[in-house]
Amino acid sequence: MPHRAVIPPARWKRRFLFLFAFTVLLPAAVLLWLAGRFGGDIPVDYADPVEHFKYGSTGGEHEMGFPYWIWRALPEVCGQYLPGPGYQSIGMLYEKKPDGSLRDLPVGTSRRRYQGVDRVFVNCAVCHTSTVRTAADQPPVLVPGMPAAQFNMKAFEEFFFRCAADPRFAKEYLIPEIQRQGADLDLLDRYLVYPAAIAIMRDRVLALKGRFEWVFEQKPWGPGRVDTFNSAKVIFNFPMHRLDPKEFDAPADFPSLWLQRPRREPRAMELHWDGNNTDMTERNKSAAFGTGTTPPTIDLPRIRRVEEWILDAEPPAFSKFFPVDQALAARGAPIYKEYCAACHGASGRDFSGPDVGRVTPLAEIGTDRRRLDSYTYTLAVNQATLYAGYPWRFTQFRKTHGYANMPLDGIWLRAPYLHNGSVPSLRDLLEPAERRPKVFWRGNDVFDPHKVGFVSDQPAAQGRALFRLDTAEPGNGNGGHEGRAYGTELSADDKLALVEYLKTF
Ligand code: HEC
Ligand code: HEC
Repeated sequence: MPHRAVIPPARWKRRFLFLFAFTVLLPAAVLLWLAGRFGGDIPVDYADPVEHFKYGSTGGEHEMGFPYWIWRALPEVCGQYLPGPGYQSIGMLYEKKPDGSLRDLPVGTSRRRYQGVDRVFVNCAVCHTSTVRTAADQPPVLVPGMPAAQFNMKAFEEFFFRCAADPRFAKEYLIPEIQRQGADLDLLDRYLVYPAAIAIMRDRVLALKGRFEWVFEQKPWGPGRVDTFNSAKVIFNFPMHRLDPKEFDAPADFPSLWLQRPRREPRAMELHWDGNNTDMTERNKSAAFGTGTTPPTIDLPRIRRVEEWILDAEPPAFSKFFPVDQALAARGAPIYKEYCAACHGASGRDFSGPDVGRVTPLAEIGTDRRRLDSYTYTLAVNQATLYAGYPWRFTQFRKTHGYANMPLDGIWLRAPYLHNGSVPSLRDLLEPAERRPKVFWRGNDVFDPHKVGFVSDQPAAQGRALFRLDTAEPGNGNGGHEGRAYGTELSADDKLALVEYLKTF
């Protein structure tokens, strides 16, 4: 009879413990570690509402976010697709830290750790914040909520599409640059996470590139403008090449975001340039598509913080930057009241007036029609499917037939003027179209307090080439808003007084 060793109970126990450790504890520990490393969804938050507006997340990093270090490395690796060094060359703005060095990310970008990777994407401030200088040798003052008059959205999109198509968009080029910039990548990041992220990002951007092909074929928008609703059509996968060419080349100036509350109460205004939506929260959620969010990825609590801030945020006073001739302004007030108040509100803070927030038909206002035509009935119908299944499904988008009469708060910082930014200054807007500049340069932040608008007769500023806007190009027409009702027939003295009064808005 073969001898069978009897294993003492103590050894059984040890074996069991070993087995338990290998089959249960170790995998559990690995899973926990993986969950800690790749799980989680942690945005960088800011207690201050203005900091949140400038750098906080709206949720776009989930789907569209660039891994932080790729974002940092791309301007070096793909520098040939930028007009100059860094994102600054396409008009992104870097604030200084207390020690005088520049922050690592520009205004209008947010950061979030998601699936184990720090990601960066744009937020509302990228299109709704800019700077102003009182003279070329003076420091820029950042103004949250003003139109991003220097940010070149088309150049931004084209940079990523061109770079992703370049052979240098590969780990062999990116990882060394990332390390040169002092990244603290661990081994996992270096050999697994970032190489995978680079491949995934490249595929994603190239997949989007096909859809955005039409952007490349549009006339350049230059800084401060975007073709709003043709971009929206891309989201719905419209067959862009089969659309009526009249819908294209419809650049829209970035608007200001201040004082949304009086735009909603007591009466909801018809806003967007063509007045296609009366509901403020729909305008905000619709805008959030511009920050890369979709119904499942939008970060509603953080968007709400932005919405709260823009309800009552106010533009800075002109008089903090330049003197206002109060006596002259007082002479302008009754002229404004007689000619402009019905459409634009009683003053820069009191937006009451019978026609404020209503649409003036195109035949009457006579400004460039492309932005209006770019927004089609078919698009409105498609937008009504957005957020289907959510309580806040869109219901308010509709096709209109003109442009909206909007309040003029902070109007001095909203130059160039009209929906397509085709008129450089308030003084020019008060002239008939044939006397307005036919060609001028956009993107300067130096202010001209006499004409009231940014300096627009110089092709370069701060060593950077500016954008030459030719009003003869499609979408750039500078006609309209002319005639007796619009002040273009006032005497030279009255125009001077009216513009002085508008400085108080
Ligand atoms: C890509 C640039 C871009 C981004 C990003 C962006 N906006 Fe805008 N926003 C625009 C443009 C352009 C318009 C004007 C649209 C039109 O009528 O053509 C606009 C219009 C608006 C309006 C309506 C203003 C009015 O008076 O008619 C609101 C409100 C608004 N945006 C809020 C936001 C919020 C909130 C965010 C962030 C969630 C945001 N925007 C992000 C470009 C942008
Ligand atoms: C009948 C209504 C109406 C009257 C009257 C009117 N406007 Fe306007 N105004 C508009 C509309 C509509 C627009 C937008 C047109 C566009 O962008 O295509 C506009 C645009 C503007 C803008 C550009 C806003 C921006 O953000 O670019 C300014 C400035 C302005 N008007 C000032 C005036 C002044 C000053 C007067 C009086 C002398 C006046 N308007 C009279 C309807 C009116």
